[in-house]
Amino acid sequence: MVIPRHLAVIMDGNGRWAKARKLTRTHGHRQGVVAVREIVSNSIELGISYLTLFAFSSENWSRPPSEIRDLLGLLKLFINKDLATLHKQNVRVRVIGSRAGLDDDIIALLDKAESLTANNSGLNLMIAFNYGARQEITDMVRHLARQVEMGQMTADQISEALVSQSLYTAGIPDPDVIVRTSGEQRLSNFLLWQAAYSEFIFVDCFWPDFDRRQLELALAEYGRRNRRFGGLTTDEPEMEQSAVASGG
Ligand code: FPP
Repeated sequence: MVIPRHLAVIMDGNGRWAKARKLTRTHGHRQGVVAVREIVSNSIELGISYLTLFAFSSENWSRPPSEIRDLLGLLKLFINKDLATLHKQNVRVRVIGSRAGLDDDIIALLDKAESLTANNSGLNLMIAFNYGARQEITDMVRHLARQVEMGQMTADQISEALVSQSLYTAGIPDPDVIVRTSGEQRLSNFLLWQAAYSEFIFVDCFWPDFDRRQLELALAEYGRRNRRFGGLTTDEPEMEQSAVASGG
């Protein structure tokens, strides 16, 4: 099996999973947390180095207050209950997203998760929380503009590398593959800059059903993809190169 260095997942379908079972959406999200634990353990076992999970988008604030309370509560519960285990598993936790407007107790919890595990050398787990890629890009532009404004650099010094280093994901390699569950085929404002060359895999099962078998099926599909990064594959005959040179 081809193991990606960085797997990112849009965990979608908790609500529909619950509805299909005549359960509440809260049940669906709770079962989603069980699937989170599973993918973390499976990623460790499979030797994936970076795992990014989209837990709460900056657009999710438009959900009903009770559901927002549920999702925030589950994140708190997850960190409170699972942080010791994650630390024992040598997982380094990072939370990507905006801290602006979050309650102090949540910020303290996220900081605690990051600082406790900062020196761990196993799986890098990124939880995208209050994350939106357009917000991330806007923050980056503002940050770089401020540096230019203060005379710390010139506009010409802004490079792709500097942009990458100025995003929430600074220092984290771009995702090799982005999996979205539940059959929806959208990026939904997730890792827009970082996804430039990612493979996209859309699976029909709802997030709570995304178990080891589903993960292995997705990785098998990833292994069948031919990643060219805008170039040519090595097995393409030379005479055809000019014909495909403009392909992505
Ligand atoms: C999408 O399902 C899922 C979410 C909006 C949140 C994902 C959150 C978790 C799995 C739990 C908390 C995460 C962590 C890391 C502890 P949906 O509600 O949009 O489903 P639907 O489209 O079927 O309604």
